[in-house]
Amino acid sequence: MRILLIGGGGREHALAWKLAQSPKVEKIFAVPGNPGIGQIKKCSCVALKINDLESLADYAEEESIDLTVVGPEASLVEGIADVFKRRGLPIFGPSKAAARLEGSKAFAKEIMAKYGIPTAFFKICGDLETAKAYIKEKGAPIVVKADGLAAGKGVVVAMTEKEALDAIDEIMGDQKFGEAGASVVIEEYMEGEEASLLAFTDGKTVVPMIAAQDHKRVFDGDEGPNTGGMGTYAPAPVMTSILRAKATEQILKPVVAAMAEEGTPYQGCLYAGLMIKGSDIKVVEFNCRFGDPETQVILPLLKSDLAEIMLGCATGSLDRMEVKWWNQCAVCVVMASGGYPGSYETGKEIKGLKEAENMKDAVIFHAGTMEKDGKILTAGGRVLGVTATGDSILIARDLAYDAVRKITFNKSFYRKDIAWRALKR
Ligand code: AMP
Ligand code: GLY
Repeated sequence: MRILLIGGGGREHALAWKLAQSPKVEKIFAVPGNPGIGQIKKCSCVALKINDLESLADYAEEESIDLTVVGPEASLVEGIADVFKRRGLPIFGPSKAAARLEGSKAFAKEIMAKYGIPTAFFKICGDLETAKAYIKEKGAPIVVKADGLAAGKGVVVAMTEKEALDAIDEIMGDQKFGEAGASVVIEEYMEGEEASLLAFTDGKTVVPMIAAQDHKRVFDGDEGPNTGGMGTYAPAPVMTSILRAKATEQILKPVVAAMAEEGTPYQGCLYAGLMIKGSDIKVVEFNCRFGDPETQVILPLLKSDLAEIMLGCATGSLDRMEVKWWNQCAVCVVMASGGYPGSYETGKEIKGLKEAENMKDAVIFHAGTMEKDGKILTAGGRVLGVTATGDSILIARDLAYDAVRKITFNKSFYRKDIAWRALKR
């Protein structure tokens, strides 16, 4: 199999790493890829424009690509799957219409309401006055969400009415996120513990993965501003096997069936962000792709052949694929540049990578790096996802931090408490 992989972050490095393990995979071309992906024997990085969809499809034809795998949501929301399918090129990832589950929060809420999928009470508001009146009626705490893609920054969890009203002014008045904020979803504040449950689907069959938990706040103890994710672990014990089965039956399968019913079947990875309180599970959000950094802990636990599973999703034959998992745990610690998620410097030399990579049961995923004169330098806010596996979360966590301590770069920082919720149990 010849694979085209779209994206160049830590998630895509984990995808390339797992795909390369398949004996069926001959070659992986990553656009744009990253230095970590480039170091994998079967992989080469290709400098094409990620948003030029027709050129990507031309390239897939020229290189006789058997399967294209899409990492980032932006490409899916723009319709990369539609372009490839029209040209008869198999692709793992939902169509533009199906990717609205992530691309429009209002659309996702309407689908959930129509098909009885559990989620927070909400109202969709298309103008500033209606939005403010609704907030005043409901009071705080309350959650305000820009409808469209806002690079993960479009959600305000408001503890006071003023915060919520200010959010409306920013999103709808100042148009902070442009068109993405033309309408907003205002919803009930949910209490509980969050977990991410991702699933493979071909539009009919739904196979859940191992549940993971992300750490979105920048500092220890879940303090400070939100980030793209400072670390993850899997399996997340909050998601017991009973709850995982419940989420599959009451959320994942119904939403996939709903999308088929609507005439816009969903194929690829469906990511459900869930809020769990006791035996109650509600949807916080859907994403139309793998999570980052969830993928960095989920894929090391996958025993089966990822390339076969993905081809099964793309060709409607997931029911014939084996999806088995190792009975192990994984922890990923993100090493970031000082200042992230605010402004930070790049171009710092990263040392100790080889020593960390040589450790048994550890793997270092590159997220924001670049190569210059044979050296690996920092090139982003989130730089590396240092991942380890072991028989328990504790063993995996200790090993991940052993690996982290071997790696140094100027002004690096990382959270010291990844997996604390699992370890507290
Ligand atoms: P989202 O982009 O929808 O995942 O929202 C970002 C984060 O905001 C989530 O991971 C939650 O921590 C929080 N959040 C979103 N919606 C709610 C809600 N209704 N109640 C409480 N927290 C929420
Ligand atoms: N880790 C959160 C996300 O990928 O959306």
